[in-house]
Amino acid sequence: MSKELIQIFDTTLRDGEQVPGCKLNTQQKVIIATQLDRLGVDIIEAGFPASSPGDFQAVKKVSNIVKNAIVCGLTRAVEKDIEVAYEALSKARRPRIHTGIGTSDSHIKYKFNSSRKNILERTHRAVSYAKSYVEDIEFYAEDAGRTDNDYLAQVCEAAIKAGATVLNIPDTTGYCLPAEYGAKIKYLKEHVKGIDKVVLSCHCHNDLGLATANAIEGILHGARQIECTVNGIGERAGNTALEEVVMILKQHPNLELDTQIKTKELFATSQLVAHHMGMLTQPNKAIVGANAFAHSSGIHQDGVIKNRETYEIMNPKDVGVTNSAIVLTARSGRAALAYKAKNIGYEMTKIQLDDVYSNFLKFADRHKEIMDSDIHQIIETSNVYNEIISA
Ligand code: KIV
Ligand code: ZN
Repeated sequence: MSKELIQIFDTTLRDGEQVPGCKLNTQQKVIIATQLDRLGVDIIEAGFPASSPGDFQAVKKVSNIVKNAIVCGLTRAVEKDIEVAYEALSKARRPRIHTGIGTSDSHIKYKFNSSRKNILERTHRAVSYAKSYVEDIEFYAEDAGRTDNDYLAQVCEAAIKAGATVLNIPDTTGYCLPAEYGAKIKYLKEHVKGIDKVVLSCHCHNDLGLATANAIEGILHGARQIECTVNGIGERAGNTALEEVVMILKQHPNLELDTQIKTKELFATSQLVAHHMGMLTQPNKAIVGANAFAHSSGIHQDGVIKNRETYEIMNPKDVGVTNSAIVLTARSGRAALAYKAKNIGYEMTKIQLDDVYSNFLKFADRHKEIMDSDIHQIIETSNVYNEIISA
């Protein structure tokens, strides 16, 4: 049976760029957009054109160069924003306007000093206005995570009536539990008239570390688009990480869901974004962190050397990582030392290995990590060096 495809909406250049101190210039945005297109994302949200002349230029340039993906520009539910977004997207082969408004009682009261009725009217007006410019309109109900489901359903219906093609249900504050977010999507699928004509989209923030879990729960309950960023970067604790949702679907074929992402490009994309953002990924970051495929304890190393699948649930090559690293530390065993030594040209008998290993342990106690160059030194200073090289 063929798998159903989930659309990957990348917002690295918009929500991702909201990381404090990580401003990208237009050229950097073009470089990243080119790589995102190569990676195979379905939609690139290139920026918020009305927010600054720089963002306008960046969306315009990205629209010019992207060959495959839909290019999207964010707006508020404000006519001027929509006009500016349309202008910035005018050269895109496949333009999308992403407009919306806050729908939780907190947003309605404190941000807009308004009423639920007025927000419904503004939803309809903004989507209709955007629709007069382009066909593909995504509507976001900001703070949908904390919006009452019944009212959210009314907002969604108003957006559909006005011509929205995609409905984005953001957990803007990263508050929802996975079951709660999944139930929200299910509720909308069951209660919104016309919902089958549109795509429901998950946009989850990571304030409680649940962004990826929430997005997956959303698609398990009927959403068909995930909004995410490379390395999970973004405002505050960030967004759903693109590489995580993509690999979750790939590694769980029983879900019968997949994406069009060329997973072998994931690591290179992560490195490119980290470099231009000036924001290194944490070593233990899932999929793309330096330690994601590193094994340091003796028991794990022994298992991985015998068969990688003992401690690796995915092949590092599938995400573009060429070496699954055996990292030598004071916790490593003889199997790992023999494996690393062999890689750099030393074959040892069991007795020779015992001798070199005792030398290794003394060295390892004084160092956090042992490099290939250190292994040469450890072998050279062992009692059995001459035997090893003359074998
Ligand atoms: O988190 C959010 O609600 C957003 C919207 C602007 C889509 O980023
Ligand atoms: Zn967001």
